[in-house]
Amino acid sequence: MKAGSSQQNSVVFFVIFNLCVCVSCRLTELQVCKLCSGTVVNSTTVGHFCLLYGGRIDGRCCLRNDNTTEPEHIIGLDLSNCSLTHVEDLQEATTVKWIDLSLNPIVNISDTAFQGFIELNYMILPGDIVCPGGNTSWDKVEFKKGNCVCEGQKNMCNQTGQLSTNCPENSLCAPYGPGFFECNCADNHRGYKCLREGEFPVLRVFGPIGVSTVVISFLMWFTQRRKAKSL
Ligand SMILES: *[C@@H]1O[C@H](CO)[C@@H](O)[C@H](O)[C@H]1NC(C)=O
Ligand SMILES: *[C@@H]1O[C@H](CO)[C@@H](O)[C@H](O)[C@H]1NC(C)=O
Ligand SMILES: *[C@@H]1O[C@H](CO)[C@@H](O)[C@H](O)[C@H]1NC(C)=O
Ligand SMILES: *[C@@H]1O[C@H](CO)[C@@H](O)[C@H](O)[C@H]1NC(C)=O
Ligand SMILES: *[C@@H]1O[C@H](CO)[C@@H](O)[C@H](O)[C@H]1NC(C)=O
Ligand SMILES: *[C@@H]1O[C@H](CO)[C@@H](O)[C@H](O)[C@H]1NC(C)=O
Repeated sequence: MKAGSSQQNSVVFFVIFNLCVCVSCRLTELQVCKLCSGTVVNSTTVGHFCLLYGGRIDGRCCLRNDNTTEPEHIIGLDLSNCSLTHVEDLQEATTVKWIDLSLNPIVNISDTAFQGFIELNYMILPGDIVCPGGNTSWDKVEFKKGNCVCEGQKNMCNQTGQLSTNCPENSLCAPYGPGFFECNCADNHRGYKCLREGEFPVLRVFGPIGVSTVVISFLMWFTQRRKAKSL
């Protein structure tokens, strides 16, 4: 009985928690578009792509309605010439395809800044900044007009079979942003079954109780560290 009620309490807690998270992400969704003054202009890379994809410009964002449940989401983000020194939290823009961070005095970019950015496919960075996830996470890395351009996000699950084998037995590897991958429990292995068989750090778990998909994501550096340790 006691166990049952405490489980109920945690269900209630997590429902409330998730609601709060969802409400707050909706409310702040467009904050990133107002991070700096001005709007996306046609002549820039993001402006050009936006026009091409029929997006709508709002501040520093290009928004598009993909006719899904989400009414509108960010597909382009032009934060160039924005006096940014650190890039840490752009999680409002996880759906973004193109990001321009050029002309910023960026000192460092958080390792996890682009975690979950599975659509990200074109990035312009100041010349001295390396592409997120490193060169191996992109199809093409080049210097153009003093900037570093990262093009074509590589699928981390398809890197000569190396990383994909790191998912626990009953789970499937899926891309999770440049340099990241995640392991989803296979359909017939619900709950924590596939976790128990793995010996991996759980950095992210969706749906704490009775939810079919348990998602674990791994930092690439962690994997590399484990490999380095075991050598
Ligand atoms: C940008 O492109 C849009 C759509 O073609 C056009 O309406 C607008 O006038 C252009 N703006 C500039 C500054 O060229
Ligand atoms: C949006 O989706 C509905 C139903 O799936 C479809 O009938 C409609 O044509 C779609 N609209 C666009 C603009 O794609
Ligand atoms: C960067 O922004 C400053 C101030 O807003 C402006 O004066 C300057 O022309 C901009 N530089 C470029 C290359 O757009
Ligand atoms: C960024 O750099 C500053 C100083 O160089 C350091 O204190 C901070 O921890 C760094 N942040 C990240 C996320 O690497
Ligand atoms: C990444 O690619 C750029 C451009 O080709 C190159 O200059 C740089 O040295 C590479 N970095 C590493 C760590 O390989
Ligand atoms: C995996 O990589 C191979 C060789 O680079 C490529 O032919 C194949 O299309 C890739 N598969 C996926 C799902 O990305």
